[in-house]
Amino acid sequence: MAIRFLADAPGHADTLAGWHHAQWQHLYEGWTLEQTREELRDHATRRTRPTTLVALEGERLLGSVSLVDEDAPELRDQGDAWLASLYVVPEARGTGLGKQLVQALVDFAAGQGVARLWLFTPDHADYYARLGWRPQGEASLRGTRVHLMDILPA
Ligand SMILES: CC(C)(COP(=O)(O)OP(=O)(O)OC[C@H]1O[C@@H](n2cnc3c(N)ncnc32)[C@H](O)[C@@H]1OP(=O)(O)O)[C@@H](O)C(=O)NCCC(=O)NCCS
Repeated sequence: MAIRFLADAPGHADTLAGWHHAQWQHLYEGWTLEQTREELRDHATRRTRPTTLVALEGERLLGSVSLVDEDAPELRDQGDAWLASLYVVPEARGTGLGKQLVQALVDFAAGQGVARLWLFTPDHADYYARLGWRPQGEASLRGTRVHLMDILPA
């Protein structure tokens, strides 16, 4: 298994978009599959923030995580660097892949000069806390309570 930039395997952008859209569309007003594809095709053009890392077993896509400037407009004032869209395919879960993707993203953010990295999660606060993220309160996104968390990457 290798963690690379989506830019190293840009042909996976649309597949990833389908997974992300199915997983999180309920949290974002008017977020279409085509917008998701466009965002990930854009991430596939660069290896600097905002961008996406992918986990690959050979050619096979196993998961992803993104570093973005904004993950939800409602939370724009909270922070300017966000871990977003952590996703592992169901058949590869429970083997530490999610943890490796989070660590790779935090290391990448440190290299990008990010002093404070944020995320929000409806139901994985305990998961991220085990990886060193600190609880920073709660917010509401389209009626869903989400936990805000941060980490200092450097
Ligand atoms: C969350 C996700 C990325 C984890 O991926 P993974 O590769 O299975 O993660 P890891 O192997 O690093 O960690 C698995 C561990 O986390 C635990 N875990 C999974 N979901 C959890 C949750 N909601 N809360 C607390 N712990 C959780 C598992 O029980 C497992 O524990 P163990 O190590 O004691 O067996 C994956 O389940 C996923 O893609 N889910 C759908 C998308 C999603 O919810 N992403 C997070 C959005 S905020």
